[in-house]
Amino acid sequence: MQRGEFSSRFAFIMAASGSAVGLGNIWGFPTNAAENGGGAFLLLYFILAFVLAYPALMAELVIGRNTRANMVTALGKLGGDTGVGKLGSGAGLFALVVASLILSFYGIVAGWMTAYLVAPAAEITGADSAASWLTTQTVTRDLIFTAVFMLLTIMVIAAGVANGIEKWSRRLMPSLLILMLVLVIYVMFQPGALEGLKVYLMPDFSRISDPDLIISAMGQAFFSLSLGVGTMLIYGSYMSEKENLPSIGVLVTLVDTGIAFFAGLLVIPAIFAAQHLGLQVMDASGAMIAGPDLIFQVLPALFDNMGSWGVYVALAFFLLMTIAALTSSISMLEVPVAYLVETFNLERHRATYFMGGLIYLVSVVIIFNFGTLFGAVVSFTTEYSQPLLGIVTCVFAGWVMKRNALLQEIKNGMPDAENSLFWKIWPHYVRFVCPLLILLAFVQSIR
Ligand code: PHE
Repeated sequence: MQRGEFSSRFAFIMAASGSAVGLGNIWGFPTNAAENGGGAFLLLYFILAFVLAYPALMAELVIGRNTRANMVTALGKLGGDTGVGKLGSGAGLFALVVASLILSFYGIVAGWMTAYLVAPAAEITGADSAASWLTTQTVTRDLIFTAVFMLLTIMVIAAGVANGIEKWSRRLMPSLLILMLVLVIYVMFQPGALEGLKVYLMPDFSRISDPDLIISAMGQAFFSLSLGVGTMLIYGSYMSEKENLPSIGVLVTLVDTGIAFFAGLLVIPAIFAAQHLGLQVMDASGAMIAGPDLIFQVLPALFDNMGSWGVYVALAFFLLMTIAALTSSISMLEVPVAYLVETFNLERHRATYFMGGLIYLVSVVIIFNFGTLFGAVVSFTTEYSQPLLGIVTCVFAGWVMKRNALLQEIKNGMPDAENSLFWKIWPHYVRFVCPLLILLAFVQSIR
């Protein structure tokens, strides 16, 4: 069977950074930064992204392109007919479950974004009661909009690597950049916004030695670069031999951290602009409203108070969120779908609708038991499973894959790899430093 392949370097970068850039960047990062020492968190995050997440990303890309397979098959193949091979396939299967679970909660949040995107459109056309239904949390609304968003995800993935993932990433990622730029500029001109800029960029180093902060920055970096669950691995397996892996990895990391930085320039000044208007931005305990209330109350209130432009700003903002979520959710769904297609020879359309449907059912269960399940699923998948699986991929690249095979793989697209700084550092790095650092942070976090 013919495997899909990305047609160019640009296409791969759009798809991989599309996976990386998501709600984690535009929502998670700015609020984390605002709550945790502003510029200090920013600095810590950049360091961790390059020192810890980038090497782990490279491990996934190298394994993926070398084995040309999904994570289950890839790790199984590398381990061979031994216990290590079985362990690898087992870890791959676990990763597949984690990717699916991430999509099950991500789909709900993305569904909210989609509802809030339709709301200003309804307002513009005068359908005010529809708009207020769309922005009121009810089980019915959540069931419908999670389904709508999941269906979009399914349609892209069913179309395959070139006609689905690549085509849509190439369209959506540049649109996302433009929307973001326009919004940042617009928000900066709102009264009060510059105050937020100061809070965002001024480092408060007293916070940076806090171990909890380091862990939250590490979790943020792993989630944001879509690591551990086999998404980058499967995207890497669709990359051509001609591409230079280390430099592509740097580009993807740069785009991801860059967009997170920009999102901070948008969200934090917006909060201060809202405060300037006298809107409520602090909760009862005096802390800044973060979580869902920030996105679905503070910001919409700000847009409402912006005069006649507000509804268009709201439209642009939630369009940005929906696009960011979609280019990430497709990469999550690709993980189990690629496995079903490659291992059981299932036809891609069927595999996609089957998996998408199954994951939607999990979302439904979460929606009906939101209070107990939502937070638990988020923390099980992103705080525990992703870093642990990150260790597994580093160990497979560093210890299980032969050093020579690693070098040969990197030499494709980088003939002088042997003499590069990358080759001098990275192989030791994924063997020792990455697994140990992740483990350390992990132990710290469960203590
Ligand atoms: N990186 C995505 C974000 O920042 C989330 C993601 C996690 C995507 C895991 C794929 C796999 O929102």
